[in-house]
Amino acid sequence: MAEVEHDGGYGGRCPPYSFLDESLADGYTNLVMPANLFQFASVTKTYGHVRALDDLSLTVPTGAIGLLGPNGSGKTTMIRTLLGLIPVDRGSGEVLGMDFRHRQLDIRRDVGFAPEDECLFPHVQGVEFVAYAGELVGMSGGDALQRAHEVLDYVGLGEARYRKVESYSTGMKQRLKLASAIVHDPQLVILDEPTNGMDPAGRNEVLELARDLAHNKGINLLFSSHILPDVEAVCDYVVVLGRGKLLAQGAIQELKQTHEQSFDVRLKSDSAAFTQHLAKMGCVAEPRGELLRVRIPADKSPQCLWEAAAAERVQIRHLLPQRSTLEEVFLNAVERP
Ligand SMILES: Nc1ncnc2c1ncn2[C@@H]1O[C@H](COP(=O)(O)OP(=O)(O)OP(=O)(O)O)[C@@H](O)[C@H]1O
Ligand SMILES: [Mg+2]
Repeated sequence: MAEVEHDGGYGGRCPPYSFLDESLADGYTNLVMPANLFQFASVTKTYGHVRALDDLSLTVPTGAIGLLGPNGSGKTTMIRTLLGLIPVDRGSGEVLGMDFRHRQLDIRRDVGFAPEDECLFPHVQGVEFVAYAGELVGMSGGDALQRAHEVLDYVGLGEARYRKVESYSTGMKQRLKLASAIVHDPQLVILDEPTNGMDPAGRNEVLELARDLAHNKGINLLFSSHILPDVEAVCDYVVVLGRGKLLAQGAIQELKQTHEQSFDVRLKSDSAAFTQHLAKMGCVAEPRGELLRVRIPADKSPQCLWEAAAAERVQIRHLLPQRSTLEEVFLNAVERP
């Protein structure tokens, strides 16, 4: 798989090819992006008896990717695996065309990571922390410091740059982690639960930054969360994990359409017979307030609603096709046995 043309270090892209410098944005046209962001082939990772990743295979395209799953579903394990931070029991895979079992240093150079846990050390100024993160991935001290100032301005921490990090609020700490993750102009930024523990205003700021990175700055994003609206706000594509397995993946718009055959129905009068008739036809009808939410299997036509109504002599007063929300897709996926 093709990779970015490197000249050593951190790829020669920061500076001068900083995404923060609009006038130099053309620098990106020289980069050759791999077709896929990452792929896993039959990856299993166990912790004792826990299968954190269970024979996981998937291929994920470039773009703004949401990694969705309930607590303990394997999101962080998947991220740590693709960064090459933990060995797997079985299987293989790559990120940006690099084998994550053997190219940890190269991956660190091209991928930025903001972990979910508090990774900040005290008694250090914000700008020192970010510059240090840059040096850890191979930048020279001078470049790292210059970029640290730029990315702190970008994440809105310019005025707090000389404050000690322990005095930062939760939201500021999250934005500091984000700044550290982008200091070396990576091709891919991984944010693990970046809105955890944040108030609505701070949460919106982080979501807006994540969106801007992915949609305006041309950086690939892997955004892990168990909060559906956050993923919908930022991402175009989603991977849903449950108990270490892949439960669903695809473009969010397409996933939403998989349940298009769902209708809200209002009857003139309640009718258990109508519900039972639909059930016999393979449809699922559940009360939603005064309405019935009816799901019709893909191999059936909505005509079956009228057939059931005619057979049970009930009048349909209102019929509204429901576009499924990602939440429904997510809940269906997670609840699947
Ligand atoms: N270092 C570890 N030692 C033992 N078990 C672990 C370790 N890391 C993860 N696990 C277990 O592996 C499973 C997957 O955990 P993981 O942290 O990857 O899930 P997650 O989706 O990131 O969850 P969360 O939303 O809570 O962050 C869980 O059952 C967890 O308890
Ligand atoms: Mg996690």
